[in-house]
Amino acid sequence: MKIGILSSGGDCPGINATIRGVGKTAMMHYGMDVIGIHSGFTGLLHNDIEILNERSLSGILNLGGTILGTSREKPFRKALDSDSEKPQIIYQNYKNLNLDCLVCIGGNGTQKTANKLSQLGINVIGIPKTIDNDIWGTDITFGFDTAVNIATEAIDRLHSTASSHKRVMVVEVMGHHAGWIALYAGMAGGADVILIPELGYDIDKVNKCILERAKRGKPYSIVVVAEGLKTPDQHHPSRFITQEIEKATGIETRDTILGYTQRGGNPSPFDRNLATRLGGHATELIANREFGKMVCMKDGKVSSLPLQEVAGKLKLVTENHDLILQGIRMGISFGW
Ligand code: F6P
Repeated sequence: MKIGILSSGGDCPGINATIRGVGKTAMMHYGMDVIGIHSGFTGLLHNDIEILNERSLSGILNLGGTILGTSREKPFRKALDSDSEKPQIIYQNYKNLNLDCLVCIGGNGTQKTANKLSQLGINVIGIPKTIDNDIWGTDITFGFDTAVNIATEAIDRLHSTASSHKRVMVVEVMGHHAGWIALYAGMAGGADVILIPELGYDIDKVNKCILERAKRGKPYSIVVVAEGLKTPDQHHPSRFITQEIEKATGIETRDTILGYTQRGGNPSPFDRNLATRLGGHATELIANREFGKMVCMKDGKVSSLPLQEVAGKLKLVTENHDLILQGIRMGISFGW
């Protein structure tokens, strides 16, 4: 068999580990040929490809980013008239390359595109990746653990400076529309307030929590804000929250936006192994000709489900998540 592999959407730690997982299993175990497609779907539109071999897959397990490059190209988005030809061009190039399957590593948008390509008659396997952990149908995505580690370390570091200056430190973490990174890093970092888009917030309650802490002899606080939180500041919700806290409490308040540091650099050992397992399972599905699926983790086991079921859905934090319930029992404010 001959397979093509691409990474699409925002990069994240673990993509190279999964490219290696797919590639090495395909070549060494199943005797398949593997083509790497550059810059996501853009590479498939322009035949920008390379033949992968054991050598090109060496030394990449612990490497951040993606050796294939990525883009946010969405071939089914019809912004311009000419764009509507993109799916057909991709179909033709897939045929010309004599591919038996296209492996699409990506987040929600990519799985949606993969499903559409599958409906077009292309054999597709999706591999979920994102630091946001918001892909429906899988318990966890690689990239998330690494991002939580980075954000937690940052929160740990903010504690000592917050305490020395008796300040409130507001830290904004990524996560798109979901609050997974904020919840996990906030809890692991011992935050006092955690604000996520799924729960919303009442700024008066946040301020009250901070003032009560000060009354209890704790003049500093750590507030973790998920980037998807809705505030009048559409770009950085942490800026609005910072201003409101300082205004209402009179306590000096500072804002830190972690940004892209959360998705750069080496994957954690957990993410490397998760990416490797998903890559191996994806290749197994291809060998069995079980196409149109996304590999996933279900109750600690590698599994898969139809792309059709995944496409267009989001996995968000629910208010009865055990970390939220436990946080509330320990006096952490979730904005209410
Ligand atoms: O999906 C990963 C992510 O890093 C989000 O957390 C963030 O909102 C977004 O990508 C940033 O996207 P871009 O790379 O287009 O700036």
